[in-house]
Amino acid sequence: MPPITNHDKNKLYYGDNLEVLRDYIPDQSVDLIYLDPPFNSRQDYNVLFAEKDGTRSASQITAFKDTWEWNEEAARSYEEVIEQGGRVADAMRAFRTLLNGSDMLAYLAMMAPRLIELRRVLKETGSIYLHCDPTASHYLKLLMDGVFGPQQFRSDIIWKRTSSHGNVSVGLGSVTDNILYYSKSGKPLWNQPYVPYSDSYLKSHFSQVDADGRRFTTSDLRNPGVRPNLHYPYKGFKPHPNGWAVSAERMEQYDRENRLVFPASRKVGYD
Ligand SMILES: C[S@@+](CC[C@H](N)C(=O)[O-])C[C@H]1O[C@@H](n2cnc3c(N)ncnc32)[C@H](O)[C@@H]1O
Repeated sequence: MPPITNHDKNKLYYGDNLEVLRDYIPDQSVDLIYLDPPFNSRQDYNVLFAEKDGTRSASQITAFKDTWEWNEEAARSYEEVIEQGGRVADAMRAFRTLLNGSDMLAYLAMMAPRLIELRRVLKETGSIYLHCDPTASHYLKLLMDGVFGPQQFRSDIIWKRTSSHGNVSVGLGSVTDNILYYSKSGKPLWNQPYVPYSDSYLKSHFSQVDADGRRFTTSDLRNPGVRPNLHYPYKGFKPHPNGWAVSAERMEQYDRENRLVFPASRKVGYD
């Protein structure tokens, strides 16, 4: 397949993504994938596109219903993945044992070949963000482990989608979605996102001001784990029983850089 040219970039493909991926997208040509597929949560997405004459596209109506059933097509898709072998086939076989003939198995059999294609088109430094929700996120994480390898899992980003909790009289409201972030290799390209804080956030979270007029806040220097080797007194202050978060050398460096705030009372420490 020829490499993607500038002409191909910024192009919107209309159709079934499995066919588009297989027919048009070369290996290792994509930096980042974000996908928001149907979630198997029984919604219909069939009114997105209209034909030029204003009627709705019949093919879209049948193609994009978010309802899945175990039928011949699902079984074929399942068999194709099994034939490819490897970890993803192992995952699908395990799903079949657990979910035999269910709608969920049909949904996973639809997702698996698409995830395999998505891995193929990603560059070695590429990343994929799979948006889903708790209906299927636990199965999709196993499937992603099968396709990308568990070591390529980076984060399960929890997105608070809404604050309106429906039907809380019978349980906890379902207000979050999941975004599973995997990379293709151990060295994904990562551009650290920096976003300026709003004025109100600065005021509420950085309430103190130093001699140079710079806003700051304090946090403790307690080690999250138990570190007996980081138990040393510093200027009369004792650490939390876990130990300090930093070595004595680093503590002195912070002190020289004027980054330490000493509580007025030395009793603020721990015995
Ligand atoms: C959860 S919705 C995404 C909604 C979208 N992110 C938005 O904010 O409007 C899932 C979308 O996947 C599309 N879809 C489902 N199956 C597809 C397929 N095989 N190929 C391409 N798109 C598909 C549906 O038409 C629907 O628009």
